[in-house]
Amino acid sequence: SPQVAGAEGRPEVTDVAHRGASAYAPENTLAAVVAAADLGASVVEIDVQRTADGELVLMHDTDLVRTTDAEEVFPGRDSYDVVDFTSAEVDRLDAGSWFDPSFAGEPVPTLAEALDLMRKRKVALLLEVKAPARYPGIELDIADELARHPWWLKPSPPGKVHRLVVQSFDWESMRRSQDLLPDVPHGLLGRVDEADIPTYATWADQINPSHTTADAAYVSAVQEAGLEVFVYTVNDADDMRAQIENGVDGIITNYPDVLLDVIAEG
Ligand code: G3P
Ligand code: CA
Repeated sequence: SPQVAGAEGRPEVTDVAHRGASAYAPENTLAAVVAAADLGASVVEIDVQRTADGELVLMHDTDLVRTTDAEEVFPGRDSYDVVDFTSAEVDRLDAGSWFDPSFAGEPVPTLAEALDLMRKRKVALLLEVKAPARYPGIELDIADELARHPWWLKPSPPGKVHRLVVQSFDWESMRRSQDLLPDVPHGLLGRVDEADIPTYATWADQINPSHTTADAAYVSAVQEAGLEVFVYTVNDADDMRAQIENGVDGIITNYPDVLLDVIAEG
């Protein structure tokens, strides 16, 4: 049950709302953070990228087409990549209508806005650095933003979920980030080869593979090296049960309500 402490004193299985409660609200918006908090989620996962003029914003895709009205607001542009838009341009976008008309006008949030809201709503943060090769130096920009919101850099209270974890599919980026934020846990997204786990275990804190590639043997191998395993993106209750059986430390889902019900089954 979630009340039983795991080896490090944290809950046995930590629930993470993927891009916010993205089954119920547009992903990577403040509305999705609110939806996750309202459902009782412990952690919210967000994707962070950088505009042309250096603003850190929440966006999953490296372009703005799928989850905003960028093509309507700025017709005929050569590029709709986040990296080619200024923060003033991004501010004009609607990141909610594509999901449902009831979310019309929902803006693309800045990381700063998300940090403030998540603190207020008392949810922890799983911060994915998305496509950092496109954004040289983004690890330092994120560290600087966190320094302006120092509550996020305080140690996590014993027996509670990590206040903040930084993760990426780009493991070299995580090495750089870990140098800048040595007291913040860092996660490697994807499946690290078993032979390489001891090397990464010298500095990383989590390996976070797709649930489709994580079986009990792999989970044990990672945990025996002293790292945690959070699996993504698990939306089916039976798949959640299977991963709890595999012994994962955390589950990332678009449906935090479904996951909390599964965890409560004990
Ligand atoms: O948190 C894990 C998951 O978000 C990684 O995949 O594509 O949804 O960012 P993606
Ligand atoms: Ca993500």
